[in-house]
Formats: sequence, C-alpha cells, structure tokens
Amino acid sequence: MIVCVCNRITESEVRKAARAGCSTPEAAYGCMDCEVQCGCCLDYAQEIIDKECARGSRLRLVTAEAA
Ligand code: FES
Repeated sequence: MIVCVCNRITESEVRKAARAGCSTPEAAYGCMDCEVQCGCCLDYAQEIIDKECARGSRLRLVTAEAA
C-alpha cells in the first residue's frame, strides 16, 4: 500500500526504515533519497513508524525474557 503518493513510498518501505532506526517520516524518507513534499502523509507515516518501533521493543523484551 502506498503511504506517500508524492514519493511513491510504500508501507513496507516505511516499516523497513523504522526497523533501521528512522524515528520520523522525514528521516525515513531521507533514507530513501526522498523529501517530504505536500506533507499529507506525515501523520500516517509516523503512526506506522511508532507501531513498528513498539513492535520491535516488544520483540526485544520477549527475546530477553526467553534468554
Ligand atoms: S503524500 Fe507524502 S509528501 Fe505528499
């Protein structure tokens, strides 16, 4: 699914950037050599990043508890 129409950035690309450490849409788009243009996608992109970061934190917690 396309998150950013201006840059044709998909949800999976935003998730991948979040897993690589990007905590904002601006940082995530920058990792893809893109820039924010109209800004319409920022709230949704941030939501995806926040969920991915929370998911990563939960996975690390479960992994640490299992060790
Ligand atoms: S839809 Fe993402 S910058 Fe326009």
